[in-house]
Amino acid sequence: MNIAPGAFHMKRYLPLDAQRALVAECRALLDGAVPAYVPTVRGGGKMHVRMLCLGRHWNGQTYRYEPVRSDFDGQPAPPLPGPFRELAREIAASAGMPLDADLCILNYYAADGRMGLHQDKDEGAASLAAGIPVVSVSLGDTARFLFGGTKRRDPVEAIPLESGDAFVFGGPARLRYHGVSRIIPGTAPPELGIEGRFNLTFRQYDVTRIEARASG
Ligand code: SIN
Ligand code: MN
Repeated sequence: MNIAPGAFHMKRYLPLDAQRALVAECRALLDGAVPAYVPTVRGGGKMHVRMLCLGRHWNGQTYRYEPVRSDFDGQPAPPLPGPFRELAREIAASAGMPLDADLCILNYYAADGRMGLHQDKDEGAASLAAGIPVVSVSLGDTARFLFGGTKRRDPVEAIPLESGDAFVFGGPARLRYHGVSRIIPGTAPPELGIEGRFNLTFRQYDVTRIEARASG
């Protein structure tokens, strides 16, 4: 469903067996050798999610990407798995947009998880200028996702993101404000055996590969 120019909500994009496999991978990653943590952001507040960045680390103190987690434990961000990159490419393509993801932010929301309204604007300047999309995949409990405009004060629409849904925002929608006001506990498909919600957002920091293709 087209929400706004450049913004698409694809309900139940992932069938249940694919969701189950992805949940297992997310769990293993979140509790793996380089585990998820609760970032403390600029100003000292704690986020209301457990976060793990793959491919490139987003530093909650500097709001910049870096290879190692210098705001936490100095460990390198684990690599972005190839199948994740392929999934992100396929979802973006079904919205008619190119994406060669080089990073993913994996967040776990417990029953009290949430995320304030913000823009995703820390990826590379050329990526943002080209409107290369963010691709989001939701698993587990339903989230009340807020999607606004390009100014903080613009009106927001509340969109329930259910397990298996994909949401894509690129092109003219790339810098729209968004957030998660709440999680609705107990709404995950019982087959997944999970409490809470996983969200994966795939992004492309570096667009040199696409530029090379366009000019070559
Ligand atoms: C994000 O904005 O980074 C996450 C959005 C979501 O959890 O749906
Ligand atoms: Mn975001």
